[in-house]
Amino acid sequence: MTSTYVGGRRVWLRLLEPGDADLIRSFFWRLSSETIYRRFLSPIKPPANALVKRLVDVDHRDREALIALDERGIVGVARYGTAGSIHEVAVVVADEWQGRGLGRLLLRRLAHIARARGIASFHATMLGDNRRAQSLVLGLSPNSRMRFEDGYLEAEIPLRPTG
Ligand SMILES: CC(C)(COP(=O)(O)OP(=O)(O)OC[C@H]1O[C@@H](n2cnc3c(N)ncnc32)[C@H](O)[C@@H]1OP(=O)(O)O)[C@@H](O)C(=O)NCCC(=O)NCCS
Repeated sequence: MTSTYVGGRRVWLRLLEPGDADLIRSFFWRLSSETIYRRFLSPIKPPANALVKRLVDVDHRDREALIALDERGIVGVARYGTAGSIHEVAVVVADEWQGRGLGRLLLRRLAHIARARGIASFHATMLGDNRRAQSLVLGLSPNSRMRFEDGYLEAEIPLRPTG
């Protein structure tokens, strides 16, 4: 576990573990329905056990999640999952923490982990009007390719080689 400051507030960062179901469940209560909708692209009613089980199913290779915690629990998660040659990335930050640079920090660190594992690009699906997520993607990789499909924005995000 490492700690750092984001917008003047301290957060701790570590990889999610399969035993973190209770932490994930509590995290949902810190998310507004809009944030949940933007993350899952549907109005999920938290905390469904099947979903929590899927979210903590990480193997630190094909499925990874990096979490940020404050004194009360998880405040942000960046994760990728692998299907064939596609590495689908998603980030979510608790409402009270949004706009302070936490999403950017989590995504950068996750990209670094992924690159070290030989992953060359991420794919992301966002709502077409999700400006913040678009900024996040372009901030990570200005060469990202975006296209609209059925109201969603599909992003192909090349990852820089690690130095
Ligand atoms: C998208 C999300 C993860 C971003 O995390 P965050 O901590 O709020 O974002 P940051 O403070 O790190 O800012 C990220 C970028 O958005 C920009 N940004 C911040 N607020 C913004 C706003 N209201 N409109 C447009 N851009 C904005 C920042 O300038 C930054 O861009 P930069 O890296 O070029 O400076 C977070 O807002 C969230 O959880 N949203 C709901 C879930 C979601 O949309 N997930 C993405 C789908 S995978």
